[in-house]
Amino acid sequence: MPRINRIGVLTSGGDSSGMNAAIRAVVRTAIFHNLEVFGICRGYEGLIDGQFEQMFSNSVSNIIQRGGTILKTARSKRFMDREGRDLAYSNLRKFNIDAMVAIGGNGTFTGAGIFNEENDFPIIGLPGTIDNDLYGTDATIGYDTAINTVVEACDKIRDTANSHERLFFIEVMGRDAGFIALRSGIAVGAEFILVPETTTYIDNLARLLKHDWRRNKTSGLVIVAEGDDAGGAYEVAKKVKEKLPEMDTRVTVLGHIQRGGSPSAYDRVLASTLGYAAVNALLDGQRGVMVGIIENKLAFTPFEKAIKHHKDINLQLLEMSRILAL
Ligand code: F6P
Repeated sequence: MPRINRIGVLTSGGDSSGMNAAIRAVVRTAIFHNLEVFGICRGYEGLIDGQFEQMFSNSVSNIIQRGGTILKTARSKRFMDREGRDLAYSNLRKFNIDAMVAIGGNGTFTGAGIFNEENDFPIIGLPGTIDNDLYGTDATIGYDTAINTVVEACDKIRDTANSHERLFFIEVMGRDAGFIALRSGIAVGAEFILVPETTTYIDNLARLLKHDWRRNKTSGLVIVAEGDDAGGAYEVAKKVKEKLPEMDTRVTVLGHIQRGGSPSAYDRVLASTLGYAAVNALLDGQRGVMVGIIENKLAFTPFEKAIKHHKDINLQLLEMSRILAL
């Protein structure tokens, strides 16, 4: 196995809070092992364009508490083509980079997996996405912070919903997964949580809402995961309003506030632990895997499995949330 002297680190895909903490951990662990580290800007785009910059210990000072990513990020279309990946590989060779840590989600690991196979180039992945939709880790970097942001926003909406006796439909991110919706929905005591993993029947939802209102509810929150099969919050609200015209409904789409902000303590610790583990794993000869944490233990999952084996949502929690909202 060729010796690793110099590594690259990049962030790719949608940013998530805690990515900076992960970069910091990668850079400082590498320096501890006498490796040189190069930051690659703008994800795979910067890899293709040769935007490499050497990083030192003080390059990552004062960033553990900052949201976003100091390396910038992008969703690279060019990296999906062989031509783009070949350019990226020649840049890695030009800069004598022996291995790379890629921080991102599904798209990042799909690219990393193909690149690994084509060039036999050592890459280790860190799960950085608010969606928590990767197999091989209990939580992804940024998920906890995103949930805390949703909870804070929903608590505020609850105040006004209550005062005006309104029913709010609140759309949260998560792409085609309902992890953010489920966990934040439980935390805010939502009346209903709509997730892509289960079929939403509008008739049923309207019937239950009517029942709730008849009993004693005068306001409520329905958390709608953006990927729900019944549509986004606007669509669901419209369909419900058609069945229950007497209800005063409002819609809030939380959007990108879920992606930014200072990372929670949980995300900082997770990112630091995984960043440290990624460099050690590279030096131990691990390649083509994502480092995650399962039941408080480090876990190494091949990229292909991390992307394709969808983590299951806990349907019992969904059932529990409904009972607790009665
Ligand atoms: O994957 C993270 C995520 O925030 C998803 O929840 C969302 O669907 C998507 O990215 C939005 O992407 P963009 O910022 O490119 O619009």
